[in-house]
Amino acid sequence: MRLPIAIGFLVLLLLSCFTVAWRPALTPEPPPPAGRFAPALVALGAQLAAAGNCAGCHTVAGGPAWGGGLGLDTGFGLAYSTNISPDPVTGIGNWSQAAFTRAMREGVARDGSHLLPVFPYTHFAKLGDEDVNALYAFFMTRPAVHAPDRVNTIQFPLNLRALQAGWKLLFFDPGTYRNVAARSEAWNRGAYLAEGITHCAACHTPRNRFGAEQLNAAYAGAPLDGWLAPPLDATNPAPVAWSQQDLYDYLRTGESERHGVAAGAMASVVHDGLARLPDSDVMALAIYFSDGNGSAARAAGTAAALALAESRRLVDVGKETQSGANLYLSACASCHYSPPMRPPAVQGSLALSTAIAASDPANFIQTVLYGVGNPGVPGPYMPGFATALSDTDIAQLASYLRSTRSDQPAWPGLPAAIAARRPPHITIQ
Ligand code: HEC
Ligand code: HEC
Ligand code: HEC
Repeated sequence: MRLPIAIGFLVLLLLSCFTVAWRPALTPEPPPPAGRFAPALVALGAQLAAAGNCAGCHTVAGGPAWGGGLGLDTGFGLAYSTNISPDPVTGIGNWSQAAFTRAMREGVARDGSHLLPVFPYTHFAKLGDEDVNALYAFFMTRPAVHAPDRVNTIQFPLNLRALQAGWKLLFFDPGTYRNVAARSEAWNRGAYLAEGITHCAACHTPRNRFGAEQLNAAYAGAPLDGWLAPPLDATNPAPVAWSQQDLYDYLRTGESERHGVAAGAMASVVHDGLARLPDSDVMALAIYFSDGNGSAARAAGTAAALALAESRRLVDVGKETQSGANLYLSACASCHYSPPMRPPAVQGSLALSTAIAASDPANFIQTVLYGVGNPGVPGPYMPGFATALSDTDIAQLASYLRSTRSDQPAWPGLPAAIAARRPPHITIQ
């Protein structure tokens, strides 16, 4: 008697799952004629597409613009970005405005299938109507490219898109951005941009094992392609708290005198993305994040932190017998040392850098191996040392700088952390 009841229950459960998951296909429409969209709307769309880094995922190096094909690691296999050019066959040319809006707001494709959250629709859902319409206008006026979508390598049963409906019930907070009445207009603008189009949390918030951002650890920092996207909350380890002005400088120019430069993925966020936004928007982001990181409460300690960092800049001479000091003086000090010699783009002291203060040596190692390029700033950049320094050299430098430029405990596991990040074809004994 019991078994049929259990089976019946299971069937009912499955049926209700798929009912919850089901979304209608929306009728294909021929691509909108050129001239349907006001130029100002297309221009706004271009700005938002830059701020949303759509190209970072939907255009691969050497591939056609918006043709897709970038493999993103979901932890369960690769998900490939899709062709979002207006090609009616392989792109989104026959998507209506309604279909595009549904994809951005609900993560559902035109054919009714659920999209994976590697596409940051969980953030784009916050966008207002005008911004979504502007993005549609921008993409529908790009040249159509023929580039069939690649098949994801996510294994059965996780590749069943219906399962995404369950994921959304658990982790997706639908709905556009709602103003917080107690906050200023600029703060709300910053929050709207950060939580929406610029999706800062997609990199700076740690994820759970289902790939969802952990809401109780918003902006607590997260690993990203061998880098660390540092915390943007009060746990940020930089010796000088990120003030509104520091954040504005960094997000506007890619450089903050009291912190350092934007490298890794952040370089592109700043120079290809935020660079397209007006000053008022970049300031709004700075207002939002400087409020969230409690920097005002730490402002009183800024002078002392700067003085301490300055005192840690000139501690190497006389220590040449230590291999770390020796390496630093010969390979690094020419740029990172005395103010009269210092190239314009170099900050006052490495002791101010999150790369040295963070509990994870990731960004220090990446910087030394691959260097720093800051295309917006004239003057010398930092070369990569992958061919010049061995893993042992870099480990000695890391330990030395960590102990002389911070109060933090020694970094454990340096050799493995360096080996894992070294370009595979360059090994130095
Ligand atoms: C972090 C990478 C990433 C970024 C940034 C990104 N996308 Fe995507 N997008 C993807 C991936 C991956 C998919 C495919 C998801 C899937 O297979 O379920 C996708 C799917 C889509 C789709 C559905 C298309 C289809 O054929 O089903 C649209 C529309 C889209 N993205 C538009 C955008 C726009 C507009 C932006 C910028 C505002 C953007 N994306 C930014 C990774 C990204
Ligand atoms: C694609 C991933 C990605 C996105 C999106 C992103 N960041 Fe970052 N961010 C990083 C990485 C990686 C670093 C570390 C790079 C470095 O130190 O040079 C970083 C560094 C930073 C830093 C420096 C922190 C420190 O202590 O040194 C700030 C501030 C920052 N990001 C703010 C933002 C804001 C604000 C946004 C949204 C407007 C944002 N980021 C969006 C990846 C990202
Ligand atoms: C040719 C000049 C030059 C040399 C040599 C050089 N650097 Fe740099 N370094 C720079 C510049 C420019 C920056 C970016 C501006 C900044 O952050 O001060 C930078 C940034 C850094 C940063 C990141 C600071 C941050 O958070 O933005 C670290 C860490 C660093 N360098 C370490 C080293 C080490 C270790 C060596 C020696 C192996 C070295 N540098 C050699 C010019 C140089």
